[in-house]
Amino acid sequence: MNFKENESAQKLRGGYYTPSDLADFIATWTCGHETREVLEPSCGDGQFLGSVAKAGFNAEGVITAFELDSAEAKKANERAAQVGVTAQIYDDDFLAWALEQLGEGGRRFDAIVGNPPFIRYQYLPENFQFRAEQIFRRLECKFTKHTNAWVPFILASVALLRPGGRLGMVVPAEVIHVTHAQSLRSFLGDECKRIVIIDPEELWFDGTLQGAVILLAEKKRSASEKGEGLGIVSVRNREFVHEDAEELFRRPRAINGKTVSGKWTRALLGADVLLMLDALDDNAAVHKFSDVADVDVGIVTGANKFFLVSSDVVARYGLDEFAHPMFGRSEHCPGVLYDERQHQHNAESGKPTNFLWFKGAGITSNKNVKKYIDLGEAQKLHTRFKCRIRSPWYTVPSVYSTEIGMLKRSHNSPRLILNKAGAFTTDTAYRIRSRKVAAEKLVCCFVTPLTSLSAELEGRHYGGGVLELVPSEIEKLMIPIPDDFEPDIETLDAEIRTRPTLDVLSSHGSKVLEAMGIGEGDRQRIVDAWWALRNRRHRVSTEPVVAELD
Ligand SMILES: C[S@@+](CC[C@H](N)C(=O)[O-])C[C@H]1O[C@@H](n2cnc3c(N)ncnc32)[C@H](O)[C@@H]1O
Repeated sequence: MNFKENESAQKLRGGYYTPSDLADFIATWTCGHETREVLEPSCGDGQFLGSVAKAGFNAEGVITAFELDSAEAKKANERAAQVGVTAQIYDDDFLAWALEQLGEGGRRFDAIVGNPPFIRYQYLPENFQFRAEQIFRRLECKFTKHTNAWVPFILASVALLRPGGRLGMVVPAEVIHVTHAQSLRSFLGDECKRIVIIDPEELWFDGTLQGAVILLAEKKRSASEKGEGLGIVSVRNREFVHEDAEELFRRPRAINGKTVSGKWTRALLGADVLLMLDALDDNAAVHKFSDVADVDVGIVTGANKFFLVSSDVVARYGLDEFAHPMFGRSEHCPGVLYDERQHQHNAESGKPTNFLWFKGAGITSNKNVKKYIDLGEAQKLHTRFKCRIRSPWYTVPSVYSTEIGMLKRSHNSPRLILNKAGAFTTDTAYRIRSRKVAAEKLVCCFVTPLTSLSAELEGRHYGGGVLELVPSEIEKLMIPIPDDFEPDIETLDAEIRTRPTLDVLSSHGSKVLEAMGIGEGDRQRIVDAWWALRNRRHRVSTEPVVAELD
């Protein structure tokens, strides 16, 4: 976790400014000659004011702008004068003002442009937190403390748009998938006639890992107007800024229904793949993960360095009888099998492969245990939150192992691990129980491009491109389990350890899909779709898939 005091002032105010070519593009699409009233809710030094002026908005038009930082607001004022637009710039909190305007009789705008601040809710001062929450409440959107300043900024902006008005903003790429923005996605889906995301391959802002996209949205003219839904335009470089903005807005096929009401990742897929996924959803051999297995979080120790130790530490403190095998990192289990051999290998290479389980009355009568616990108390581990809420602090609760484990995070694609060693898993992994088929079959059927693709659609990723799945997302995964498929876990394990993921998903995965009658063309389409989303997450170009299906 990052602490507020370690963050730069620029990050704490969300002060990354929009490059002029992007601001010009947005202003051109958003503002036209008819546009009279424009809002820039967080204008920084006024980049968008210049762009709106260039876009040629109405000569009698006025820009209303907010900027919390007075020095930046002053620069914006100077810029407005330079470019010859009439602007009212307030060095004040936009959300406080927006709350006053939301009711009947409040101000409304023809166009709203900008790039709202990216500031975690927990980093906002208390009064700002309060106002952010009020925006959600007033608009009847579900609030969560996981939110970020940009979410209430967009919510309030959409609410302040006139019917038929246009909003164009640079927003974090996570708008597409992050769970805390679900109420914003639904609100946009309800309020807007058409929504288009321009999704670049590369990062637009130096000094931040946070990817950004352009959100273009046109508000419905009336509540009864039917929405067209959402479209995504993928772009490779900044050439698109020279294209006709209106044509770009009309270009993607917009999709509605499931896509707009959930994560928007589905809009990244072609119509043919979406149709195929919908058909597979109805296929009797394709299951929702929660229908075939249970997912539970791993063991929460509260002090991993103390409870998860190498064999050297076990020997040094004489704790053999309390040490149990455990795994929790991808380097602990590079394949799909965690067995005695893998465990020995990890132990010999000095990895923390032991979980120390101190349980039962009188445990501290063992001299070695007492000495080790004293050591933990000298480090004040018993005062840590997760330790102090249990009694005694050194007895970790909910200790059990399952036949299958799964790491929370993955680089390429998630996999299940058959836990033959009966090892424990910590909170970097999940404990999984198969309910319908043998554990080995579940593990093998998971390694398919279909499940990997659905993990890209359901999961989340942050800067750095690592895919993470929480239990509720794992429960939604699609897993094909054909009756006629005979698992061979030893071979699959060897393949995963030695071959690239793309090859394994194409070859082994195709055997599973073939066993349920999916033809070669469709199998290849699923592989391609997974590869494209995986590459988007890693921010690398999607080269044509080279591996041929076996
Ligand atoms: C990402 S920058 C964008 C600036 C400008 N819109 C641009 O695109 O270049 C966000 C700006 O929001 C300002 N800001 C942060 N919180 C604000 C608030 N509550 N009200 C108004 N402005 C705010 C920051 O100071 C920062 O200048």
